[in-house]
Amino acid sequence: MGIRMIKVITYGTFDLFHEGHYRLLQRAKALGDYLIVGVTTENYDQARGKLNVVDSLMTRIENVKKSGFADEIIIEESIGQKISDIKKYKIDIFTVGSDWIGHFDYIEEYCKVVYLERTKDVSSTMLRNQNFKIQRIGIIGTGRIAGRFLMEAKRVSGVNVQSVYNPHIDSAKKFAQEYDIDYCLTEEALYQNTDIVYVASPHETHYRYVKNALLYGKHVLCEKPFTLKREEAEELFAIAKEKGRILFEGIKTAYCPGFNKLVDIACSGLIGNIRYIDACFTKLEDKNSRELTDRKYGGSFLELGSYCLLPIIKLFGCEYDEVRFESIYDAGGLDLFTKASFRFKKGLATATCGLGVKSEGRLLLSGTKGYIIVEAPWWKTTYFEVHFEDASRVEKYSERFLGDGLRYEISTLLNQVNGSSKGEFKLTRSETTAIAGIMEKFLAGEKRDENMGA
Ligand code: CTP
Repeated sequence: MGIRMIKVITYGTFDLFHEGHYRLLQRAKALGDYLIVGVTTENYDQARGKLNVVDSLMTRIENVKKSGFADEIIIEESIGQKISDIKKYKIDIFTVGSDWIGHFDYIEEYCKVVYLERTKDVSSTMLRNQNFKIQRIGIIGTGRIAGRFLMEAKRVSGVNVQSVYNPHIDSAKKFAQEYDIDYCLTEEALYQNTDIVYVASPHETHYRYVKNALLYGKHVLCEKPFTLKREEAEELFAIAKEKGRILFEGIKTAYCPGFNKLVDIACSGLIGNIRYIDACFTKLEDKNSRELTDRKYGGSFLELGSYCLLPIIKLFGCEYDEVRFESIYDAGGLDLFTKASFRFKKGLATATCGLGVKSEGRLLLSGTKGYIIVEAPWWKTTYFEVHFEDASRVEKYSERFLGDGLRYEISTLLNQVNGSSKGEFKLTRSETTAIAGIMEKFLAGEKRDENMGA
């Protein structure tokens, strides 16, 4: 009887394949007779918070293959897969670099675990930072979202928030102190020292700031709602194109892995043709909050409408036949609750938002073969269910959503600034422009002044 060969397994992303990877694979192979290498998928990396991987899965596999050490290459696509691989492939030795010491001790129950000395002074992160210079971000606006953005940006390698601008200098100073960044006295000063501008100012100022930043040659990420007029959105995208700059709207839901999985499944035919979309987001606000005191640009639809319009526009397209708005107003004429009802060629949709009326925030996609339901907070999609006529048949899907979720939008932005078009589809120019057009229609129909004191 022949001697059984020793099987070794190792895993990694192997992005921008480098010396450290080569040496790791070389020594892994030397531990036995047969080496299996698990290469992570993009989705898995995203879900575990490893953002900004540059090479595609195919390129990373190709590079592992070229090293000549792998006898077999498999794909690692989920947490917990390692144990089943070890059993499935009858593995004798599991190995990874010493940066993981202790982390995989639990595997000792199934096979031998070897931590190999990590090669010094090289890593994919280092190479990504060398190949692509750190992008300096400047923030306009100092509201709550700006603070959240800053904390999330720390989780994305390759960007650094450097400065903040607010025409109210005291607010800028306070914000800069709190987050240990610089503040600028003028808008120009901010543009001079940054590569990317994040516009998080009051809604009605977005257009002006985005335009100025683009004309200054900066890439721009603008908070939702992007602009309040369709024409303004079109003009801004035209300037961005002419200047060769990246410009997109920060609706965080559009960039998070769970929502993208939901869109994929909705489009896969699993629930047949989608005929009805119902998206609802409510968030009770203090009556003294900006959202309920800014008589001109506050209110529930301008505040939350973008989230609800996103799945509708994504799945039904940018062209609709009809839209009708119905609102409940406060004494000052602001919409405490708004329901927008659409008729598309493909079906019907409702977008419901409330700052003063609480409802069950959910997203429902009804199709000819079944429906998909996502409970609140569906705008940070982590879990959804697919139901069918046969009530006992329920398919469940889940995906991680890390932190506040803004990291996904920041990393998509960074990828695009660094020249990859990966993620461009997540929120397209036409979608943002269509949403701006809906905001415009809402405001036009509102006749806010007439509602005052209603
Ligand atoms: N590795 C190594 N020496 C290095 C870098 C990586 O031995 N200098 C090993 C890791 O310990 C792991 C494998 O190579 O076992 C794949 O690592 P991966 O995470 O893909 O590479 P990193 O360069 O560590 O990537 P990142 O900087 O993105 O974390």
